[in-house]
Order: sequence, then structure tokens, then C-alpha cells
Amino acid sequence: MRSHRIALIPGDGIGPNVVEAAFKVGEAVAAKEGFTLEPTYFPWSCEFYAETGAMMPEDGIETLRGFDAILLGAVGWPASVPDSVSLHGLLLPIRKAFVQYANVRPHRLLPGVEGPLKAESFDILCIRENTEGEYSGAGGRVHQGGRDEVAVETAIFTRTGVERILRYGFEQARLRSGRLASVTKSNAQKHSMVFWDEITRELAEEYSDVEVTSYHIDAMAARMVMAPQSLDVVVASNLFGDILTDLGAAIQGGLGFAASANIDPTRSGPSMFEPVHGSAPDIADKGIANPLATIWSLAMMLDHLGEGEASARVMRAMEAATRGGIGVRPGSDTTGAIADAVLNAIERD
Ligand code: NAD
Ligand code: IPM
Ligand code: MN
Repeated sequence: MRSHRIALIPGDGIGPNVVEAAFKVGEAVAAKEGFTLEPTYFPWSCEFYAETGAMMPEDGIETLRGFDAILLGAVGWPASVPDSVSLHGLLLPIRKAFVQYANVRPHRLLPGVEGPLKAESFDILCIRENTEGEYSGAGGRVHQGGRDEVAVETAIFTRTGVERILRYGFEQARLRSGRLASVTKSNAQKHSMVFWDEITRELAEEYSDVEVTSYHIDAMAARMVMAPQSLDVVVASNLFGDILTDLGAAIQGGLGFAASANIDPTRSGPSMFEPVHGSAPDIADKGIANPLATIWSLAMMLDHLGEGEASARVMRAMEAATRGGIGVRPGSDTTGAIADAVLNAIERD
């Protein structure tokens, strides 16, 4: 029987709840389609940090290398470990080490979900650069503690990094409507963002069948609220993509619905699938975290693993659940009830 080895990193806060719910859905759909998902759990989290002094073991990346995919819940518990330590100790190194340079985040309304906007028919695919840019970690502090103290955060954009994410965006646009929106802030950031715009224009000649439009990040934020239906594939840098995808989550009804895939398109190592949201300390232990974002991420994982029919089954089951009014409003149903509704829909399908 076909089998896929999955590394599960539930993480902190609501992470374990949503991963448990999603993995059950994965196992159910695998049984229907005649393959297995072989899970290995890694307890890497802020609790693990409290016990060991690190977010993952020294050989953590090497351990993950042998898996077909990684499913992650959420990382971060700022009350006990500073976010700059926890995220730079686990999530961000995984994205970088496995060169998961394309962070793919779909934004559309599931049936029955009422977003905050009048527009109901948008279908946006955000492609976020995921390995460099504003997240390079370069910089430092000078004159620390003094009156002249300066903090420098250097955004690093390489030709390789910018070109490959833009190419990914152009390719996705080709598979969809043929329209690509590229997001920068080249009116203010005259080095990196002008560079990004230049490379966009170079590639536009090669992809002459794709209609590419450049937007500034501020105008794009407004457009996503005022005219989301005018957008299709949107490609942006690491930080701009981070911000736009929480906005994307908001217009699709909340963070409980927003899925993401951290993809290495070369497939030389595992890709990682996780919801856009974090550990949600404000609702952790209440049992009301919406697992749909993680279930949708699992569907993206199945698709990446070549299990397209299983992926489609998960999407159909999620849609059947929300069409029936389950999980459509924040806090209206428990994590377990939403997962059960999806599982029932899989059984009935
Ligand atoms: P968050 O995404 O955890 O929460 C923001 C708001 O959305 C909260 O009100 C929360 O209750 C709500 N929310 C999030 N997910 C939900 C769900 N599935 N169902 C219902 N409501 C949901 O963002 P934050 O509060 O800024 O961050 C909390 C911690 O998570 C921090 O440590 C942060 O760094 C970390 N974080 C991690 C990831 C990740 O692991 N990928 C992503 C974002 C934030
Ligand atoms: C996300 C998160 C992370 C990011 C944080 C937790 C470092 O916000 O996945 O969107 O900024 O990439
Ligand atoms: Mn984010």
C-alpha cells in the first residue's frame, strides 16, 4: 500500500488541537483512498525549550529531512519564551533549511461563511517569498543601552531569491487566470524593491502570456478590502506577504480559515504545511480553535504528495461542513465538533 511519512510538529497553544483534528481527517481520507499516512510526533515547542534549552534538538533539521512532508500547528508562547527565540529556533529555520521558498496561501470564502466584505466571489492566491528579504535576520545593535543606540534590520534580496519566487508566481498565474499582481514599495524602498520591480519586468518578457501588474503594498492592502475580486495571483516579499495574508485571512472570515503551504518546488527536501495563524494564547484551552485552516493545509499537503483525489475529498468535506453552518462563526462550534462534521462528510462522500 502507498504510504507517506509525515512529521507532525503540533507546537504550542492551539497547535496540538488543530493538528490532532487535521490528522484524523488525513487518516480517514487515506483509508478511503487506499494509502496510509505514517505519523511521527515531534514535541518541539516552548515547553520543549523549558525542558531542554532549545526549541528542537541540534540534529532536528537532519531528522526532518527523511520525511515526505511536515504538518505543523503553531509555534510561540510569548508568556514564557520570547517570540524572537521560539520562532528563530524552530519555524523559520525549517523554512530556510529546506528552501521552502514559496509560501502559498489561498484566500476565498468557504460556502456558508460570511466574511466582513460585501464581495463574496474573490479567489486570491498569495505567493509569499519565504526564505529571505526582511526576515534575513541580518543586522544588530550599536551603542547598546546608550542614548545613541541604533537598531539595524537589514533586508537581503538576492537575484536568485527574487527571481525564483517571481517565476513561481508567473507559473501559478499561468495555471489560473493568467493574471499576476506583484507587490513592492519601490516608491520608498529604492534598493530592494526597485530591484524586485526590475526582475518582474525582465520575467514579464519571458512570460508574455501573463498579464502582470505592479502595486505598492499600501495600495494592495486597500485593494484587498475594496476590490478583492479584481485579484488572482499575488506575489510579495516575506514581510509584505506575511501582512497581506493575515488581511487575506480576515476577508475570508478569520484566521481560523487561512491555510498555507511552505513549498520547496525542487522537492529536494520535505515541504511544510501549517495554518496561517499562531498559537492563539487567548483561546488556548477553551476548545474552540477552528481546525479548518489546518485541515485545508492538510488538503494542500495531500495534493503535494500526489494524492489529488484525497485532497479534493478533504476540500469537499470541509465545504459540506461549512455549507451546513458548522464552524462558520468564530467560537460557534468546538474544535471537535468541526472536525467531526468534516469526518462525517468524508464518510458520506
Ligand atoms: P494568532 O494567530 O495566534 O492569534 C490572532 C487572533 O486570531 C487571536 O485572537 C486568536 O484567538 C485568533 N485565532 C487564531 N487562530 C484561530 C483559530 N484557529 N480559530 C479561532 N481563532 C483563531 O496571532 P498572535 O496572537 O499574534 O500570536 C500568538 C503566538 O503565535 C505568538 O507567539 C506568535 O509569534 C505565534 N505565531 C506563530 C505562527 C506560526 O507558528 N506559524 C503564526 C502566527 C503567530
Ligand atoms: C506566519 C507567522 C510567522 C511569519 C511568524 C510567527 C514568524 O506570522 O507564518 O505568518 O511571520 O512568517
Ligand atoms: Mn503571519
